[in-house]
Amino acid sequence: MTFRQLFCRETCTYTYLLGDAGQAVLIDSVDTHADRDAGLVRDLGLDLVAAIETHVHADHITGAWRLRGHFPNLKTVALRRCCNGADVCLDDRGVYRFGGIALEARATPGHTSGCCSWVDHANGRAFTGDALLIRGCGRTDFQDGDAALLYESVWQNILSLPESTLLYPGHDYHGRTVTTVAEERAHNPRLGGGRDVATFTRIMSELRLDPPARIAVAVPANLRGGSPT
Ligand SMILES: [Fe+2]
Repeated sequence: MTFRQLFCRETCTYTYLLGDAGQAVLIDSVDTHADRDAGLVRDLGLDLVAAIETHVHADHITGAWRLRGHFPNLKTVALRRCCNGADVCLDDRGVYRFGGIALEARATPGHTSGCCSWVDHANGRAFTGDALLIRGCGRTDFQDGDAALLYESVWQNILSLPESTLLYPGHDYHGRTVTTVAEERAHNPRLGGGRDVATFTRIMSELRLDPPARIAVAVPANLRGGSPT
């Protein structure tokens, strides 16, 4: 089994390469790193069968369209609620299989209405996109964001997993790479440590964040699977 955590320095985005039995997928690829990632997949002797998304990103454009130029049989995979023309659209708790790996789609709305976390139960890991970040979470002030819904999503669908589950986020801005359910239950300063939904929604409403620099370009492009037109 192959696992790589790839980084985009410009947007602090993590892209995850998962491989098994000759097949690979990329979760949350980035267009400007598509050539790098395709080269790595080839170097590892794998066939890239899918580009999987956690949500419609506002800060970068998916690499899916460019990756298909390298791997013509690649399928795009997303939760049905944020399908946007993807080849494979899964319902909540639907499972995508490749090699010997099964990834369960879990709807975790709140950062955006279509957010999805991907859970690899057999290997004790989950890819949480921007729903849950290490000691943080995605913002809830645009793209149909909803703080109360995010609180419910995270607790019901991510922090309910076994305590030792490794959680891999969509971004980290402080150089951290991975966390666990136990860590975030105890130490997440917004959602953990016994904080209730009212406290969480107040914290989120008091954040004053600038819009992502590329939102006007990135969101429309991502609704087209990363295609320029
Ligand atoms: Fe996001």
